[in-house]
Amino acid sequence: MKVKENLIQLLQKDGVDSDLLNKAQAYASDASVLTQELVARIPTPECPYYGREIWEATVAALLSGRNLLLSGPKATGKNILCENLAALFERPVWDVSFHVGMDAASMIGADSFDGSRVVFKPGPVYLAGKYGGFAVLDEINMAKNEALAVLHSVLDHRRVIDVPGYERLQLHPATRFIATMNYGYEGTRELNEALASRFLVIAMPIISEENLCRVLEGRFLTIRKSWRDQFVKLFYELNDKAEHAEISERAVDLRGLQDAIGLMQFGISIRTALDMGIVNKCFDPHEQQLIRDVITARIPDRDGREVFD
Ligand SMILES: Nc1ncnc2c1ncn2[C@@H]1O[C@H](COP(=O)(O)OP(=O)(O)OP(=O)(O)O)[C@@H](O)[C@H]1O
Ligand SMILES: [Mg+2]
Repeated sequence: MKVKENLIQLLQKDGVDSDLLNKAQAYASDASVLTQELVARIPTPECPYYGREIWEATVAALLSGRNLLLSGPKATGKNILCENLAALFERPVWDVSFHVGMDAASMIGADSFDGSRVVFKPGPVYLAGKYGGFAVLDEINMAKNEALAVLHSVLDHRRVIDVPGYERLQLHPATRFIATMNYGYEGTRELNEALASRFLVIAMPIISEENLCRVLEGRFLTIRKSWRDQFVKLFYELNDKAEHAEISERAVDLRGLQDAIGLMQFGISIRTALDMGIVNKCFDPHEQQLIRDVITARIPDRDGREVFD
């Protein structure tokens, strides 16, 4: 598969331990033959995840049979990393978005009437467990802890899904669970100890300057180097201000920065684009002004097209 080959090449170039990469490849070739339908579930990542240490830690964790919890602020690449890991391990993915009303049926499955009789309609966790997939438990701390209790036997050494009235499913050996969480986001809860203890936890770092340049270049092929560097510096300056509690975390938004640069391609002025992608996400006028000052000090207002060759 081309996607996987390219990814492996990039990881080799970035110095990711070759023994880990070989083992990850062996894992994929050992796994049961996948049907077309399952192959279609292997993700093609939107962009590579950059960060050698995180790659090594997460690949090792999955190889050792453990489940992963990726914890970190917004836009630190948690979902991008999930996609990349599944691409490297060639695993079909089932995404489960957690919310306050999450219940066992939405994860595991439920009875359903097929026109003549009641049958079990498997949920995403069940399917990942059956077919050796990766289940991405996205924003796991949005759910109520009581609702998550059903996952305990799935996530620990038992690796079983027990649906009352149906067969007990022993998880496929290749199945892994990768949860993401954003500590302190509105609407999130503390993950209880019992659940946290069933994961190896990765604290997702803010991307390095060098890697941020690579992300921007990968997404905006014709971006001028001088502008790219200004946007990168702007990002870390806002990050610094948030760390010193001068502004909130809202403005430190890599996703928003990329969206803004995307708008510039359409000729929207640089300031308007940055307002839409970053400034206006803070709703407090005083904070908006602080952020605008940082932008004005660094970035002249021009037609967005000037940013590109
Ligand atoms: N280390 C990194 N390597 C590659 N891309 C990164 C990295 N860190 C952040 N990004 C970029 O950040 C953006 C958001 O990524 P993603 O959706 O995976 O974040 P997230 O951590 O899941 O965010 P949220 O908590 O808001 O859901 C993407 O455009 C991605 O390219
Ligand atoms: Mg996410």
